[in-house]
Amino acid sequence: MLDQFNREIYYLRIAVTDKCNLRCTYCMPKEGITLKSHDEILRFEEILEIVKTAVKLGFYKFRLTGGEPLVRRGIVDLVKMLSSAQGVKTLAMTTNGILLPQYAKDLKSAGLARLNISLDSLKEDRYETITCGGILNEALAGIKAAKDAGFEKIKLNVVLVDRFNDDEKENFKKFANENNLGVRFIKKMNLKSGDFYKVEGGEGGHCAICNRIRLTADGKLRPCLFSDFEVNVRAEKSLEEAIGKVINHKPEKGYKSNNREMYQIGG
Ligand code: 5AD
Ligand code: SF4
Repeated sequence: MLDQFNREIYYLRIAVTDKCNLRCTYCMPKEGITLKSHDEILRFEEILEIVKTAVKLGFYKFRLTGGEPLVRRGIVDLVKMLSSAQGVKTLAMTTNGILLPQYAKDLKSAGLARLNISLDSLKEDRYETITCGGILNEALAGIKAAKDAGFEKIKLNVVLVDRFNDDEKENFKKFANENNLGVRFIKKMNLKSGDFYKVEGGEGGHCAICNRIRLTADGKLRPCLFSDFEVNVRAEKSLEEAIGKVINHKPEKGYKSNNREMYQIGG
């Protein structure tokens, strides 16, 4: 479906949970987080209906995000449901990788096409600092599990923070090369101040070619990370109308957003 600025919108990012097993400093607020209650979180059947409706409106690319998607109970079943829905060309996931040793094989057989793995440092101490306690070796084991499960074109997402890990770019490129991974660098964004940048090695952050909308775990469609506009899918007359409305409200450019934190929107 075309938006008001003639951009073809065909990509839906779906946050399946607001929970996470890490606490990345740029994603979770220092004060801690308030999780949505079980009733507020979309059920799998609701997500499937939204995906089917999106397909009718021309969407074909879908990505599961979070929070951390792999902490949602039954995630493999959801992957199966969505990947086998007619018209879903690519179903991808962005994960921090920690639970991949447990899930990679099942995700692959459930029809997940691609994985992006977030990894912000190749140094143990820095990884622990930026994730507030994460263990680098667990994330690396996750990457290995994904490769062993047969995932191809795995991409690393590296959030670059000035004077913290921006000296690791070359290291990351080398690591990616040696392990046959893609890598992209995302400069740390700030929803409240509206600071965002084009993703190096990816298409995110480039408003003129933006092709996506987002669905939060509690069922709000968002036209843009950097806009407060939301449509509650449960409150609209139909899912078609909900999706149509959010596409029609997609701003030409991102501005800023005060109503959500990153962990609720899935980056
Ligand atoms: N700036 C840039 N990227 C972010 N992500 C989460 N918060 C931010 C931020 N403030 C990224 C994660 C992950 C993706 C889903 O979004 O690192 O790779
Ligand atoms: Fe969790 Fe991802 Fe946020 Fe880190 S960036 S706290 S891994 S949701």
